[in-house]
Amino acid sequence: MGHKTLVDFDLDRYLRNSRKVDLADIEWDRVADHPLSDGDVMCLHYMMDIETHTVIYLRDLLATRVAADPQITAFLSCWVYEELWHGEAFADFLRAYGIEVPAEPKLPDGSTPLPTHPNRWRDLRVSIGVGNGLGIVPTMIGSMLTRDFAAIHMMWGAVNELTTLTGYHALIRRCEHPVLHQLLRKVIQDERRHFAFYRAQARARMERSRVARGLVRWVMSNLWTPVGAGVKTEEEVDALALYLFGNSPEGLAHAREIDDTVVEVPGLEGLTLIQDYLDGAQARAAARPGWAGVASTSAPLRANDGSPTPRHWATVGAGRDDLPD
Ligand SMILES: [Fe+2]
Ligand SMILES: [Fe+2]
Repeated sequence: MGHKTLVDFDLDRYLRNSRKVDLADIEWDRVADHPLSDGDVMCLHYMMDIETHTVIYLRDLLATRVAADPQITAFLSCWVYEELWHGEAFADFLRAYGIEVPAEPKLPDGSTPLPTHPNRWRDLRVSIGVGNGLGIVPTMIGSMLTRDFAAIHMMWGAVNELTTLTGYHALIRRCEHPVLHQLLRKVIQDERRHFAFYRAQARARMERSRVARGLVRWVMSNLWTPVGAGVKTEEEVDALALYLFGNSPEGLAHAREIDDTVVEVPGLEGLTLIQDYLDGAQARAAARPGWAGVASTSAPLRANDGSPTPRHWATVGAGRDDLPD
């Protein structure tokens, strides 16, 4: 292993090459020629909304000590720009397919002015109080308490980017729309770079600090929520998670892939964030027929390894009995 505080990411190269996702090769005129399932459309709305919400997440990040780090703020400047265009890409795709909720005003030539969906966004941000999983006040207090706090944001960001890009792979697997496949593969290339930055930052901070390792482990074990929670309802988050990662060996393999990558970061050994979330979503769906649009006959998760049913399903909010103290 190299120097302990090395951030293994070529930031100079990222900054110089950052650009709007290039969708010139996408066959936009063929978007309406192929069907999408209701689940696919749900995923696209979720993804569009979350990509567009990135700027609010940025605001919360900049209220913390990470604002003092020039490497991080340089990255964030390009990152938020790239994410804006991901949101617009999904909006363009849905509009080309014939879906626009709510309908937005058009210019006289029929084009849609940028940014698209201002009404959708104004309504959503007002109704949720412009928040997310990392609310601004606790974020600011926590930021004053410890210099290791930035590691939490970097690891949280890494998991967000990893679940996003894995979710895009999972949607490619679930849906057969060839043009959507083209679009998702383009966006995934950006998300891979985003993930690499956040992971490298988190890893460097956690390798050099036992306090950072403990803090991040505690936060991820006790406070972590999937990307989109707080913007989307619990049922919407569950629906997305189960559609993409639940109820099939392939979906579960994607979930394990995320967890296996997270545990490679020092301090996070043994965590199973995504599989635990899926267990919870599955339990909610089993307890309430129709929840998250899941048929009640769904096969249980983790049926393949013969292990007992995880007990923390029944103790939401209580201590975690599936993790060492
Ligand atoms: Fe994105
Ligand atoms: Fe991203």
